[in-house]
Amino acid sequence: MSKHPIGIFDSGVGGTSVWKEIHALLPHENTIYLADSANAPYGPKGREAIIELSIKNTEYLLNKNCKLIVVACNTATTNAIDYLRANYNVPLVGIEPAIKPAALQTKTHAVGILATKGTLSSELFSKTSSLFASTINVVEQNGNGIVELIENGKLNSEEMKTLLMVYLKPMIKANIDYLVLGCTHYPYLMPLLLELLPKHVKIIDSGEAVARQTKAILERHNILNTDNTQPKNKFFTNGKPEVMQSLLGANYWVEYLDF
Ligand code: SIN
Repeated sequence: MSKHPIGIFDSGVGGTSVWKEIHALLPHENTIYLADSANAPYGPKGREAIIELSIKNTEYLLNKNCKLIVVACNTATTNAIDYLRANYNVPLVGIEPAIKPAALQTKTHAVGILATKGTLSSELFSKTSSLFASTINVVEQNGNGIVELIENGKLNSEEMKTLLMVYLKPMIKANIDYLVLGCTHYPYLMPLLLELLPKHVKIIDSGEAVARQTKAILERHNILNTDNTQPKNKFFTNGKPEVMQSLLGANYWVEYLDF
């Protein structure tokens, strides 16, 4: 069982930012990454549709004998992980916007959160937000359009820069000192965000925390791969393989899969 792969899915290529953290912390684990790019973005979809797509991805990974599944998508986690936990007998790790550390550390009492409509409107997000950030100014911004640009290979385009300038403006005006990235596609925007935000603004994403949580759960279930052998890392997308390939580099091979 310990040699079985960790399954990771996202609405598209963004969850590879989480895969990179998992691979850095657990370099001997075999992994299968599934990008449902043909159905991206999940953000504007309703809860039922997000659950349906998450079921399809989970079942694909279970058929590949995955020992644990990482839902590397904030929108799928906040809308579907409760359903998946209730219906599948496999350890599941999700990802949520790191609103708590930002709320605890802010000095200006203002933090920005960039996430999809699906995440911002979810019950899980509003619970976390009211639990940890009720006394500070949380400037929420729906990142509409960002995922589409990344999925179409326009990560470093002028269009992206223009969109980000619009989205960051109210946050800068509110004097945020933390920006929380609430979508796994967004860590790829880091160079642009650093260019556009005032120097004092710190950016938080949850990828590293997810990797630590994955390790803890593997240990708890006694299914950590303790072999020091070269792992097999497989990447599948029903979108454009070249987009994911450019994010992963030449050391990994991305395959098109009609699923
Ligand atoms: C999306 O598919 O709209 C974004 C994925 C995420 O929330 O991480």
